Amino acid sequence: MFSNPLILSFSLLLSIPILFFFLAPSLNPQPLPPISASDELDDLRLFHRATAPPSAPSHLSFSSSPKIAFLFLTNTDLHFLPLWNRFFRHAKTSLYNIYVHADPTVNVTRPPSDTVFGDKFIPNAKRTFRASATLISATRRLLATAILDDPANDYFAVVSQYCIPLHSFNYIYRSLFTSKNFDLTSKSDPDSSGLTQYGVLKHKSYIEIISEEPRLWKRYVARGRFVMMPEVPFEEFRAGSQFFVLTRKDALLVLKDSTLWRKFKLPCFRADECYPEEHYFPTLLSMQDPNGVTGYTLTRVNWTGTVQGHPHMYKPKEVTPELIGELRKSNYSSSYLFARKFSPDCLSPLMRIADSIIFRD
Ligand SMILES: *[C@@H]1O[C@H](CO)[C@@H](O)[C@H](O)[C@H]1NC(C)=O
Ligand SMILES: *[C@@H]1O[C@H](CO)[C@@H](O)[C@H](O)[C@H]1NC(C)=O
Ligand SMILES: *[C@@H]1O[C@H](CO)[C@@H](O)[C@H](O)[C@H]1NC(C)=O
Repeated sequence: MFSNPLILSFSLLLSIPILFFFLAPSLNPQPLPPISASDELDDLRLFHRATAPPSAPSHLSFSSSPKIAFLFLTNTDLHFLPLWNRFFRHAKTSLYNIYVHADPTVNVTRPPSDTVFGDKFIPNAKRTFRASATLISATRRLLATAILDDPANDYFAVVSQYCIPLHSFNYIYRSLFTSKNFDLTSKSDPDSSGLTQYGVLKHKSYIEIISEEPRLWKRYVARGRFVMMPEVPFEEFRAGSQFFVLTRKDALLVLKDSTLWRKFKLPCFRADECYPEEHYFPTLLSMQDPNGVTGYTLTRVNWTGTVQGHPHMYKPKEVTPELIGELRKSNYSSSYLFARKFSPDCLSPLMRIADSIIFRD
């Protein structure tokens, strides 16, 4: 058959791409499946409802105090439920709401219905994968659900099952809504004092926005060299933690966006260079509301000795009053308000110092 050497070498040459086709998936981490059209449509309907102008002005939104919506994003049991229960025990129920997005393909234990978490699992939750656009969708689903649920929801704080509060609810509430000097960076603001012309505190979103990062280019081209153009030139591409606290204004901006989403939802060639949830929100908000964001996060994380994109996971013997004090220290605000990541077995040592240290103002 291969009597002609030319044909032999030609068929060998042909076999290289075929071989590569079969070998490639095992060489590179497998890209994740795209988001299905029906899931996409489902979300679009929800976001559309959430961003539609209210048909009649709601009396509730004028009479009640602003609330914090706590958005829990999880694909396991909520390890620190007892700690959060204690956190909310001292909070006025009129000042907060809780929403939980739990991956429906995982058997997450439902908290008893007579607790504050009882009926807080949102019904439209969908499957999530790490380092994929599904985490963006889950966060937007939480934002939309909270926007629709209560017009008094004014700040939206994303936390996960590995997050803990670093202060009491009242401290966090005061810091976000009434403190004039919580945000240390606002002093360098040209239109300073933190007050609007009406004398009301100007509320900003606390979201990390990083433009100088060694891996930024690799992340930018993870879907192809020119794919993000023209909507997102590299100069506008940003990185930052997905654990943020957004104002209602910015939450609505996120839900109204379809232009950037069309780009960021595209699958990457390699899973290990693709963290859409760490780029979508900071890029979008730095482009669309640069003056409404602080550029830093209120959730402390320890990247020392990072392995495979995972931050340091605190172990029980590291949980001490000193650690809590250390984790609160921030260069940007009076204090960090949340911290991650803690291994599930940190629950007991955390509960032991909850009232005496964590929730003591
Ligand atoms: C989920 O967990 C509960 C309690 O742990 C158990 O009773 C139930 O059978 C589990 N369901 C599935 C589908 O695994
Ligand atoms: C951060 O993690 C490293 C280990 O990776 C640890 O030695 C260090 O104490 C941690 N820093 C803080 C502030 O907890
Ligand atoms: C604050 O800034 C100093 C000086 O740049 C740095 O050494 C320190 O690690 C920073 N602290 C935190 C909590 O980021």
